[in-house]
Formats: sequence, C-alpha cells, structure tokens
Amino acid sequence: INGPNLNLLGEREQSQYGSITFDKLKENCQKKSQELGLDIEFTQSNIEGEIVNLIQDSIKKFDGIIINAAAFTHTSVAIRDALDIFKKPIIELHISNIYKREEFRQKSLISDIVTGGIFGLGADGYILAIIAMQNLLKK
Ligand code: DQA
Repeated sequence: INGPNLNLLGEREQSQYGSITFDKLKENCQKKSQELGLDIEFTQSNIEGEIVNLIQDSIKKFDGIIINAAAFTHTSVAIRDALDIFKKPIIELHISNIYKREEFRQKSLISDIVTGGIFGLGADGYILAIIAMQNLLKK
C-alpha cells in the first residue's frame, strides 16, 4: 500500500526518492513477488480514508501488508488504528531515511505497532520488504 504522492515517483524530489518511476517500481515488485510465489496487489492512494479501506479489506484478502504510508505516516491515527486491527505481519517502508530529514518526519505513528521496518535504502527497500514478508509468512 502506497500513500500520497508516491504515484509521482520519478518526478518528485529525486534527491530523496531516486529516479525510478512508480510504474517501474510496481513492475519490479510484481516480478519479484512472482519469482517468490507470492500474490501481491500493488496499490496507491492520495486519500487517507481510501488507505483505511484498503487496510480493512486486506484483513480478509491478504496474509501481510507492506506499507509506505508516505506523509500519512507522520499524521494519521486512522491508518495506525486500521493497521492495529490487522493481526498479521506488517512491514513499514520508507524510501528515504526519515530520521535524517526534517523533525516532523522523524515521528512515525505506526512504527510501534508494525512487525518491522525498512527505511533509507531507496527503491530497493520494496524488494527487501517482499523478501522479508516471504520469510515472515513461512514462520
Ligand atoms: C516517505 C517519507 C515521508 O516522510 C514522505 O512524506 C513521503 C515518502 C519515503 O518513502 O521516504 O512521501 O514515506
């Protein structure tokens, strides 16, 4: 699940997020998941309530969630609450190192309820998260 403005990857702040486009990232994730035998749905929304709905729908549909909640990471109690209801593995993901950036980005409202997290490793973080999710699901 990808949050606001991540659809503009490749155009926005390349110094933070690199030059990969959202479509290419999606393709890479689908390829990796297929290779590992995982079924994924790669989604994005700019709307907080839609992300809450995606998380709620995931309870019945999916065994795990990888989420880059983007700016909502730092603001959304609603997304935190929805994730807290999902009782299966959750990986928090950020392309940039949020702890090296502005103070308001250094607080995540979800880190303390997720299984684990990856940040600051660029778009590779998505591939690493897929591998980590596969390992979590094997356990
Ligand atoms: C981000 C970091 C957030 O602070 C920011 O609002 C984003 C992307 C990241 O992937 O590094 O949109 O989640």
